[in-house]
Amino acid sequence: MAAGKGTRMKSALPKVLHRLAGRSLVQHVLDAAAPLAASRTIVITGHGADAVEQALAASGCVFARQMPQLGTGHAVAQAVPMLLDTAGTTLVLNGDVPLIRTDTAHALAQACGGERLALLTVDLDDPAGYGRIIRDADGRILGIVEHKDATDEQRQVREIYTGILAAPTAALRRWVAALKNDNVQKEYYLTDIVAMAVAEGVGVVSAQPAGETEVLGVNSPVQLADLERRFQRQQAETLMEAGVRLADPSRFDLRGSLSCGSDVEIDIGCIFEGAVTLGDNVRIGAHCVIRQARIESGAVIHPFTHIDGEAAGVRVGPGALVGPFARLRPGADLGPEVHIGNFVEVKNSTLAAGAKANHLAYLGDATVGERVNYGAGSITANYDGANKHRTVIEADAHIGSNCVLVAPVTIGAGATIGGGSTIGKPAPAGQLTVARARQVSLAGWTRPQKAPKKG
Ligand code: UD1
Ligand code: CA
Repeated sequence: MAAGKGTRMKSALPKVLHRLAGRSLVQHVLDAAAPLAASRTIVITGHGADAVEQALAASGCVFARQMPQLGTGHAVAQAVPMLLDTAGTTLVLNGDVPLIRTDTAHALAQACGGERLALLTVDLDDPAGYGRIIRDADGRILGIVEHKDATDEQRQVREIYTGILAAPTAALRRWVAALKNDNVQKEYYLTDIVAMAVAEGVGVVSAQPAGETEVLGVNSPVQLADLERRFQRQQAETLMEAGVRLADPSRFDLRGSLSCGSDVEIDIGCIFEGAVTLGDNVRIGAHCVIRQARIESGAVIHPFTHIDGEAAGVRVGPGALVGPFARLRPGADLGPEVHIGNFVEVKNSTLAAGAKANHLAYLGDATVGERVNYGAGSITANYDGANKHRTVIEADAHIGSNCVLVAPVTIGAGATIGGGSTIGKPAPAGQLTVARARQVSLAGWTRPQKAPKKG
């Protein structure tokens, strides 16, 4: 169910498209359900339907539009005609309850078994607002009463309906077709099917989630941030249990997948996005943002470094040192023991073992040989305004400070480029090449004087 408005988000974006750990809320739900391999996954859309359907276009699910939105029972009624396997089980999940676990959903579907109505319930200290599970003296479920329709006595019940259930598909079709909206909210309540099942003598059972976090919904920015922290905490704990040393699990954010070798240390305030791999003994300094990258064993990323591999990826070779304040962009491929220092930007460039660019530099579309030393303030002028060109710097070359290498250009092996040079022609191997105005000193030169004030 993903048709609700989400008024309390106070946002133009449909609620279920808000992101938690880099994925939309509804995508979390679909990802949790995917291993159950349903014969069909139907997303019920309504508010912001175009945007939701577009966001999920590649997900393989189908859409049932609910216009207007007349309640959860009405929502499910739009989807049931599209269910394929009428002898099977239908699992109803909530698009705004993102952290439901596959195990829990699976156990609920098993509890239904195509025969019983299975409700996911939980005991809450503060059940206000939720539908209450009403049981008889023997503990048998009789029905669900919405908070707004409940008597004072019923409101004392702490067992609530989480909004998630599994039902025999054929019976569900029948039940939702018979729902009425004679309640305080004038809505078609899905929860009314429980009393129908009881009346028909269909078994009604309950199951509980492993933890409360799984069934918490997102209705407001405060709740979204709360679930984000809970989810990040879970991810952090999984990593720490595998041996990763997080300086502070409450200041750690993973919006994708992070695979770590042994003895990895991550300081505070780091954000990992997309697929990131950290080899053995890698250390990540404070406040780094790292996306789509492979950092190999023993490499050290100093604080405030930004690495974004996008589609091409970034590789940082074994024992390399990067940052502080470095920027690695797509296609940066650093070999073993490479050093990239502060305010150095590298894009679509290969640096072979031991190459160094330690200060204030740009390397774009460059092939840099082993042990090259690339001076402070030097840049590759790789873009002529229309096309990009490559710069090749062969092994052991030494590029002085503040040089401009106008691509396409090749600096031969062991060449030295004098500081301040603008190099647009090949620089031969082993020689010193200097391309700058000669220094002159003018004897007897005097500074201009200020003109005397008039009047
Ligand atoms: C519902 C349950 C309540 C339960 C609570 C758990 C009903 C009648 N009540 O209440 O027992 O304790 O969830 O959170 O089911 N939706 C639609 N179309 C609609 C209405 C809602 O798709 O016409 C979707 C919403 O987007 C949301 C979900 O259904 O994802 C639940 O709707 P919501 O309005 O939050 O239900 P509650 O009143 O909270
Ligand atoms: Ca709700």
